Amino acid sequence: MIKVSRKVAAIAPSMTLAISAKANELKAAGEKVINFGVGEPDFDTPAHIVEAAKDALDKGYTKYVAAAGLPALRKSVCRKLKEENGLDYSPSQVIVSNGAKHSIFNAVFAVVDDGDEVIIPSPYWLTYPEVVKSCGGVPVFVETTRESGYKMTPAQLESAITPKTKMLIFNTPSNPTGAVYSEAEIRAIAAVCEKHGVVVLSDEIYEKLIYTGEKHFSIASVSPAMKELTIVVNGVSKSYAMTGWRLGYLACAENIAKAIASFQSHSTSNVNTMTQYAAIAALDGDQKPVEEMVAAFKARREEMISVLSGYKDLGLSYVRPDGAFYVMLIVCGLYGKTYKGVKLESSMQIADLLLTEKKVAVTPGVCFGDDSAIRLSYALAPEEMKEGLKRIAEFAAETV
Ligand SMILES: Cc1ncc(COP(=O)(O)O)c(C=O)c1O
Repeated sequence: MIKVSRKVAAIAPSMTLAISAKANELKAAGEKVINFGVGEPDFDTPAHIVEAAKDALDKGYTKYVAAAGLPALRKSVCRKLKEENGLDYSPSQVIVSNGAKHSIFNAVFAVVDDGDEVIIPSPYWLTYPEVVKSCGGVPVFVETTRESGYKMTPAQLESAITPKTKMLIFNTPSNPTGAVYSEAEIRAIAAVCEKHGVVVLSDEIYEKLIYTGEKHFSIASVSPAMKELTIVVNGVSKSYAMTGWRLGYLACAENIAKAIASFQSHSTSNVNTMTQYAAIAALDGDQKPVEEMVAAFKARREEMISVLSGYKDLGLSYVRPDGAFYVMLIVCGLYGKTYKGVKLESSMQIADLLLTEKKVAVTPGVCFGDDSAIRLSYALAPEEMKEGLKRIAEFAAETV
């Protein structure tokens, strides 16, 4: 038997994918499963974006292009970063990859050496620690609290910094908590990073999905020094309902971009060419579909919160999410009680029981480093959401 390398053996499989697979199995068996586990918009990719891909195929744009991305797309990304985020990059500082996930991997691989520490505020998106480990780095978790709205304070960050700290992975709006840092909070975090020379991987994939009326603020825009220290990651997956197309990008200092372009040319090479044309249409085209999608998510979030706020007596609570399309439902109030004779003691067990007993798929918080909660996505039809929340309430009411 071939032995798996040490680096790869250290990587945990994606638990979120395992749960959606189980939910799909039940669905295929004819069960009516309500899926709160989804991490993607349930909207179609806007028609003008699909047309741009078709047009690229019709024109025969089916060959290799520059490994770092089409010059026209990198220019569009620069325009977007300038106009929407106040960030001035040249196309040579932008690298287009196979989804923001790939951009994150590239950023960590380019910067982190064996034994370097990477600070990750917790709860975190489950891919971050696995990417860090696969690049030889050491994840260092900073536990945020519900009281702070799941936001890391500058003092917490500072006390996690050691001589080995290389990077902070910063994600606002956040998956899984929906937390959105304010500009003032971001400036305070940036001040600590600047003081200690900590590189920031700023994952801005949910930037358009903010429901408070505030505009997203990129940590790279704090100061020229901060821009130099930051690798901005973004993409089209969540904003334009393009999860399956696989296109993300990053922007950073010239030397890092050059290094990433070089190793990407030896690994995946360019993102498929038609998707790159579709991404140009997404970034430069009509933004109305995005606004409509955001409005729909906002309404669902209101609905979800208003239902959940009635669940306090059932031992369930939440912290109001301001962005992305997730809410952490705090279930530890049920721990110690029993459901059909089973003593409840973990988020995994509750997720499992909800799926098998109530046909409701959720993601256990333990996947994100927080065993006191389960994550509910509201990227599903409003009627399904209501029915699913009813089933969760029934489950909680049946505990003794
Ligand atoms: C926080 C966060 N960053 C990045 C990604 C990856 O996005 P993409 O589909 O573009 O790889 C996700 C997807 O779930 C995410 O939740």
